[in-house]
Amino acid sequence: MRTLGILISGRGSNLQAILDAIREGKLDARVGVVLSNVDGAPGLERARAAGVPTDVLSHKDYASREQYDEALVDHLRAHEVDLVCLAGFMRLLSPGRILNVHPSLLPAFPGLHAQRQALEHGVKVTGATVHVVDEELDHGPILLQRAVPVLEGDDEESLSARILEQEHRIYPEAIALVLEGK
Ligand code: GRF
Repeated sequence: MRTLGILISGRGSNLQAILDAIREGKLDARVGVVLSNVDGAPGLERARAAGVPTDVLSHKDYASREQYDEALVDHLRAHEVDLVCLAGFMRLLSPGRILNVHPSLLPAFPGLHAQRQALEHGVKVTGATVHVVDEELDHGPILLQRAVPVLEGDDEESLSARILEQEHRIYPEAIALVLEGK
């Protein structure tokens, strides 16, 4: 069975969606380790509740991004990770076998506050994207997308919640596709 390494910075609801998909037999994989760059990230508790080992690696403890990335890779190797999944991991990473989920229809609205950017631009449709990570922020080959309508009266919170539901669907699906070599 393939082993995932999941990198988080916060809430970890996408991590939870992946753990749930595995538990429900929708995703044939195991999570070998959850790493966070933020001590006390709430998502770490979700990992512990699922019996998954966790580690915190703060970028502040490393002199350069290269050194930080090397330390991350060492940890991922130690847990025999086959595929790395960023799930709300708020750091740029050197590319590798890494997936990311983003709350917009990329290439629209990369970066922070994608949902606010969509509202400010007045788009009628936005969505969620899972893509392979390359050297640019929120950029790289797209694996799956799901469109989400922007409704009258939406604010950042209501739109984010509607997009998040789709993130939780497409992230486990995209991981399964990659693991099946599609
Ligand atoms: C998600 O909206 C994801 O698309 C973005 O960061 C958020 C993380 O949420 N990259 P969570 O920690 O998975 O709940």
